[in-house]
Formats: sequence, structure tokens, C-alpha cells
Amino acid sequence: MASWTMVRGRLGTAWLIAAWGALLLVTAGCNSKDEEIVLPPPTGNQPLEPDVVPEDEEPTVESKVKVTASVFGKLPDGREVKKYTLDNGTMSVDIIEWGATIVAMRVPDRNGKLENVTLGFPNLEGYLQRHPYFGSTVGRYANRIAHGKFTLQGKTYQLTLNDGPHHLHGGKEGFDHKLWSSRLTEPGENFAGVSFDYTSPDGEEGYPGTLMASVVYTLTTNNELGIQFHAQTDQTTIVNLTNHAYFNLAGAGKGTILDHRLTIVGDRYLPVDDTLIPTGELASVEGTPFDFRKAYAVGERIGELKGDPGGYDHCFVLTGKRDEAGIRLAAKLEDPASGRILEVLTTQPGLQFYSGNFLDGKPENGGYPKHGGLCLEAQHYPDSPNHKDFPSVVLGPRGDYQQVIVYRFSLAESPESSGK
Ligand code: BGC
Repeated sequence: MASWTMVRGRLGTAWLIAAWGALLLVTAGCNSKDEEIVLPPPTGNQPLEPDVVPEDEEPTVESKVKVTASVFGKLPDGREVKKYTLDNGTMSVDIIEWGATIVAMRVPDRNGKLENVTLGFPNLEGYLQRHPYFGSTVGRYANRIAHGKFTLQGKTYQLTLNDGPHHLHGGKEGFDHKLWSSRLTEPGENFAGVSFDYTSPDGEEGYPGTLMASVVYTLTTNNELGIQFHAQTDQTTIVNLTNHAYFNLAGAGKGTILDHRLTIVGDRYLPVDDTLIPTGELASVEGTPFDFRKAYAVGERIGELKGDPGGYDHCFVLTGKRDEAGIRLAAKLEDPASGRILEVLTTQPGLQFYSGNFLDGKPENGGYPKHGGLCLEAQHYPDSPNHKDFPSVVLGPRGDYQQVIVYRFSLAESPESSGK
């Protein structure tokens, strides 16, 4: 069975996704800086055949990362929605089949106190309504497409409009509102995970082609949650998948993220019009409130941003050096008070930094206040199908869409090092 492996190198920043079929050694110890981590295959070039544990069989390896399954709730039509908990003994993550959604990430602070650091709802009902994509897998096209229109191979397609005049996050019933089917992936000693599959029919929300998508979540003993996206199509189409977790490193519901210190490894950003559609310019961050090349508190310059509701809701052009696997550091977020640090690493070309501007305390938005959480969405640029000079989001029938996002958690060594 082909396997997609990831190794973290000596410096702690070099990642490698080895070729299919490669087998890499794993030597892990929690939080060690020079360990090697292996993530199992997402799906390779066989999206419907990930390296899963066959039904009614036990995994062959005893893993340090435990996976348990339970029922999270039932859909109105009676179908059960499963929840998986991945637990490495230090942190744990809950993921449900509805929207292949992360519903909780419990991470310790510098005193060992666990908090759930991602916004969400306590039960399925919250996720069934139109909500702010808390923790969701977003697709078929994450972010906006102007007027829901694009032309592919000479044919113009009209997508559903669900964000004023535009198409947002896959439409009225995007991938966040689908029941994905799930299977355990073959674990290793230092990782374990779950694979989620969804087949989007030709014409769904206006998109051409049947798209077979899969998302594999893997937790490692090094406190990394790897998310591997994979898709194939039977007709030329467009794809842009991401995870839409909202983070508050103090804990979901514990105030705002305005004190969090953020670094983004990007020297340009995409200015947008009043309806949040990119103008097409890739502007330098130099001398602007968008310059996060060194750490700034999110709230420090947010007031300089004009518009309603204001705040950051912009895509950054990632410029970090890619490792052999094409993965690079996109952003680092730190909560000085708790010492929790999140790093986002990815193969994707862009990072949408959204500072939770539309959160308003309403129940359908989880009751969280404005800026109660922020998103660091690794993805392609918004409205790419209408900008020939943006990296392509076109996937053809012989193509193989693969992207990786890694959320890596650690702790600031002391209050001094966390900028206090
Ligand atoms: C977008 C925001 C949007 C939010 C929730 C983010 O990805 O950039 O504009 O309000 O998702 O839909």
C-alpha cells in the first residue's frame, strides 16, 4: 500500500513528504526537536483507497496516539454523526463526520492546564444551522468567487450566490454541510488518524464534474495535527479546500484574540473591494498594518483598517522557504498569557487571515464576541478562477489535488520569550 510520509528534520522546520510507497523510520518522543514524524497516507493518487484499517479489523500497530469513536448526534433524517477523539496524552482533538469538522482541540498551557482552543458548538444542532464555518472543511472552493461566475475551457459556469452578490465557501450547502464517511487510517507508533471521504456530484452548487474528496486528520506525538486534502475529478473543475478552524489560544469563550501575537511569513497581501473581492493587486505589506513579518499583537493596528465590520479579512501571499515536501511555515500565533503557541505550516500558496470580524455574540454564531477567535486559513487566493495571474485552481480528470496543512502546538519557554 502506498504511503505518504512526513518527516520532521533536525531543525524542527524541515518537513518531508516522501514519495508514495516510501517507508520512513519513526523515532519520536513528545516535543523533542529532532524527531522524525510519519504521517500516514491521505489517499495518494487513489482518493478512495487511503491506507485505512479494514472494517472489523484492529490496527496492526499499538500507537501512542489513541483514537476513540462515539456518536455526536443524529441528523433530522436519522443518520448518525460520529465523533472521533484523537489523544496523544498531551493534547486531544475531536472531529465529527458532519463537514469533517474539528469541534474541539484541547491543548495545555504552560502550567499544564487544558483548554479547548477552537471555537465551536457543544452539540450537533449548532453545526446544522448556517454557522460561521467553525472548524469546518470548506469546499469545493474556499473563499469568494466574484458573482459566483467563472469560465473554464470556454464555458461559463454560474455557482450559487450565498454571500450577497458572491459565492462563498462552496455555496449554500458546501462541504461543511455534508455527512462525510469516515475510516480509521493505519496508525504508526507515533501517530494515528481518521480519513473522511465525500463525493460531490457533478453540478453541485453549480460546479462542473464529480469530485471525490478526502481529508485525513492525523495527530502525532509531537502535538501536530496534520490535515491532508486530496481530490480527483472526472471533468475539469476548480478546487480549493481548507480547514476553517477559529483559534483563541486563551480558550474558546475566554475573551478576544486582540492580544495574541501574530507572525505571517508573507511580504504581500491581496487588497479587496467593499465586498471582500480581491482587486487583483498583490500589494507590499511594507509600512502597512498588514506587515506581520515580525510579531505584532493582532489588536495593535486593527483600528487603522477601514470598512464595515473592519478588521483583517485578507489573503497573504506566502513567501517562506519550502522544504523538500513543499511545506513551509505560514504563520505563528502566540498567546502571551497562557504561553500557548500555534504554528501553521502548509503546501498552499496563500493564507487568509480573518480576525473574526463578523462574530457578534449571537447564538447562531456560537455566542462569541467580535474577535472572539481568528482563522488562519491556508488556501489558494480568493477569486482565483477570475485572475489568470493567480496560481491555478483548475483540476483536470488526470490531475491529482493534494494539499497539506499542519497545526503545530508548543509552549513559549517563559513569559519573557512570549513578548511580555
Ligand atoms: C472569510 C470571511 C467570512 C468568514 C465566515 C472567512 O474565511 O474570509 O469573510 O465572513 O470566513 O464565513
